[in-house]
Amino acid sequence: MKILILGSGGREHTFAWKITQSSLCSELFIAPGNGGTLSCGTNVEIAVTEFDKISSFCLENQIDMVVVGPEVPLVNGIVDVFRKEDKLKHIHVVGPDKNGAQLEGSKAFAKEFMAEYNIPTAAYAEFSLDTLHEGLEYLDMNIGPYVLKADGLAAGKGVLIIEEKEEAKKALESMLSGQFGEASKKVVIEEFLSGIEFSVFVLTDGNDYKILPVAKDYKRIGEGDTGLNTGGMGAISPVPFVDNELMQKVENRIVKPTIKGIKERKMDYKGFIFLGLIRVNNEPFVIEYNCRMGDPETEVVLPRLENDLVSLLSSLFDESLNQQTILKKERTASTVFLVSGGYPEAYEKGKMMNGLENVQDSLLFHAGTKNENGKILTNGGRVLAITSFGNSPSTAVKKSIENAEKIDFEGKYFRRDIGFDL
Ligand code: AMP
Ligand code: GLY
Repeated sequence: MKILILGSGGREHTFAWKITQSSLCSELFIAPGNGGTLSCGTNVEIAVTEFDKISSFCLENQIDMVVVGPEVPLVNGIVDVFRKEDKLKHIHVVGPDKNGAQLEGSKAFAKEFMAEYNIPTAAYAEFSLDTLHEGLEYLDMNIGPYVLKADGLAAGKGVLIIEEKEEAKKALESMLSGQFGEASKKVVIEEFLSGIEFSVFVLTDGNDYKILPVAKDYKRIGEGDTGLNTGGMGAISPVPFVDNELMQKVENRIVKPTIKGIKERKMDYKGFIFLGLIRVNNEPFVIEYNCRMGDPETEVVLPRLENDLVSLLSSLFDESLNQQTILKKERTASTVFLVSGGYPEAYEKGKMMNGLENVQDSLLFHAGTKNENGKILTNGGRVLAITSFGNSPSTAVKKSIENAEKIDFEGKYFRRDIGFDL
């Protein structure tokens, strides 16, 4: 089977690494890929949103399956493009159609969906510029912290959590006046939930489902979860506080009704559902849906998965998902991200990376790197994820940190406290 992965992050390198372990994959391409994916297959210079080029490439190279890493192509309807055109129909694209991808692409859609299917989530209301006045009144009636969410995709920056009422009112007005462009023409205001977050990943063919290993990511730049939000500084799987009792609640109250909704609303959903959850008094609530795998969670979830990933993904397309059994390593996987100095604000690229060959006993998943004539250079904010196994979060993370010390590039930064709170 010939496979194309779309994306260029650590998540996509991890997919590539896992897929090359399958005897079902005869050839692998990654568009656009990075300095690490080159060791798993062929990088192709096509951006994830260039649907015409992607479909031509698939036809010219007899691609059988496309694995979509990031959300933007899914929200833009890549699945619909492939399913609708006769000459593309036979190519299996992993992910939901545009309708299903709205679970991530529109917060208002996701909230309305959860309300209909009684899925536990924060209470909310939705406003547009026409109803700004009511939005301000809503803020007046409630106490902070106030959670304001741009309806559409805003590159992870569309959620504001504000303590002060007056500040929240100003923020609502500026969001509705276009602070995040089209994405904030509608704004969801939510009840603030206080608890600890975790991520559950589900594979579905729109009918059956399988639950993949659970993970927790660390989003803030600073140790002790301080400072600015990032794409993710590290992750752990499994998560000690997510016990069987909590997982049963997640499955019964969240996963099952979500699949029921997907079915009833006739979403063409053959892919991953990423549930961003929060535990409040030992009860799970949905913070957000994503229609893809997480990054950096993939860097710990896939290494723990014992299944042949290509077989698992193929089963989404011939109604055999329910014959699959998810097998996972019991050991804890950790990943620690090396990032560029200055990230998530301005940072420099093109720094030479040294010492990668000295790493022992860890997996290296490249994100913002490029290979220039055999030399690996930094090429983004999040540069490299170092994944290790251990018998506990702290032993796994210690190994990642040991190897993080062996890699050098100007401005290198990483968190040393991933998983230490667990
Ligand atoms: P989202 O993009 O919806 O995942 O939101 C980004 C982050 O904001 C989440 O990971 C949470 O840390 C936080 N957040 C979102 N919604 C809420 C909420 N209702 N209560 C508390 N924190 C929230
Ligand atoms: N780790 C969070 C995300 O992928 O959105």
